[in-house]
Amino acid sequence: MKASDTKATLSFSNGGDSVELPIYKGTVGPDVIDIRKLYAQTGMFTYDPGFMSTAACQSAITYIDGDKGELLYRGYPIEQLATNCDFLETCHLLLYGELPDQGKKTNFTKLVTNHTMVNEQMQFFLRGFRRDAHPMAIMTGLVGALSAFYHDSTDINNPEHREIAAIRLIAKMPTLVAMAYKYTIGQPYMYPKNDLSYAGNFLHMMFATPCEEYKVNPVLERALDRIFILHADHEQNASTSTVRLCGSSGTNPFAAIAAGVACLWGPAHGGANEAALNMLYDIQKEGGVEKIGEFIKKVKDKNSNVKLMGFGHRVYKNYDPRAKLMQETCNEVLTELGLENDPLFKLAKELEKIALEDEYFVSRKLYPNVDFYSGIVQRAIGIPVPLFTAIFALARTVGWIAQLNEMIGDPEYKIGRPRQLFEGSPKRDVQPIGKR
Ligand code: ACO
Repeated sequence: MKASDTKATLSFSNGGDSVELPIYKGTVGPDVIDIRKLYAQTGMFTYDPGFMSTAACQSAITYIDGDKGELLYRGYPIEQLATNCDFLETCHLLLYGELPDQGKKTNFTKLVTNHTMVNEQMQFFLRGFRRDAHPMAIMTGLVGALSAFYHDSTDINNPEHREIAAIRLIAKMPTLVAMAYKYTIGQPYMYPKNDLSYAGNFLHMMFATPCEEYKVNPVLERALDRIFILHADHEQNASTSTVRLCGSSGTNPFAAIAAGVACLWGPAHGGANEAALNMLYDIQKEGGVEKIGEFIKKVKDKNSNVKLMGFGHRVYKNYDPRAKLMQETCNEVLTELGLENDPLFKLAKELEKIALEDEYFVSRKLYPNVDFYSGIVQRAIGIPVPLFTAIFALARTVGWIAQLNEMIGDPEYKIGRPRQLFEGSPKRDVQPIGKR
């Protein structure tokens, strides 16, 4: 961390001693005020629920400029990565800091591919779930269960263990998501086919059956690969922070990633693509494009609790750059499948147009996020709606593990332990039951 010449001074209106606080500069982005000694110096905590102004760690992986609508993985703009690289190159970049050359790419691809199978015993574990279980409920269980299968990569303090756990997680997530899907529809699991690409293999495990040959459609393969790239990391979002906090206790890496999966499930985070598509279905059922006005009215009514899902972002106060790329992919996939006139896509475009012109959304800087279009793409590919968030989890796994490994390697890392402003009862005595 680079200290700034400027210092912050915290003074108190009651005349108490003021405190000088160091300021650090990142390579880009806002400086941070170091408050680590504040409690020792003043006996006070800072109060920041939701981390609106708090940097919880230092990181060199992903940078977002929310006002510009810019997203960089290790310095590379997401647009360039999504156009020029594939997902495994992006994984290499996030994990090791650099894009691979051809030799490194071949080796890395081989390494990941060698780990795509899961322990056969996982099938029996899966059988314990109801067939109608939500895929994210299954994924939380399956990813956590990996910690019980791979005993040689569970020591978070051992760099070799961390590396092999990272490779295993990236390699096995597609297999687990596809197994969760096949289980819910009662079809046989398809083993990974290692001559296919990462995304191609996932399509094969999802949609092939043992009865006939399955041919991977290159347009859908590329679309899925792009979905994976766009979701691969997003700096200190809720699930990544969950993984860091969980991992900060020194827990098993698979358990820490399972915590990330659980956090991602929520509709304010990874569950938004599922919620966005369900919202479109609902508007469609009510009467489609004609009903947009009525729906927008409900969204603007604070008492309705209705949100325009797939819109708004804690960090982006401009168009989410991933949403632009996803809209492009959406057009490609729908054209490939002859679905250009898909009513849901038309509805989404119209809804976006109306919202972008509406004062409510304009004044609050609410723009479409990546989830607004990713649901339509996934649905067109044939992925069932409840599986959308599991696909997000598959893609985000590399980000989670890269961030977890970065944290463990950081000499400043400590177990995460937030403090609180206590508003409950002060000390009191327990009364006998008849007197309470
Ligand atoms: N629809 C309608 N109003 C919205 C929306 C929305 N989608 N998002 C924010 N607002 C309004 C809020 O009501 C609030 O209005 P107010 O100032 O009049 O009270 C204002 O915009 C600011 O919103 P906050 O909730 O303070 O913003 P915050 O940063 O806390 O929330 C969040 C961000 C959770 C993403 C929110 O925009 C949301 O719920 N969006 C819908 C869900 C969604 O798409 N999530 C995906 C996030 S991206 C991802 O995980 C990949």
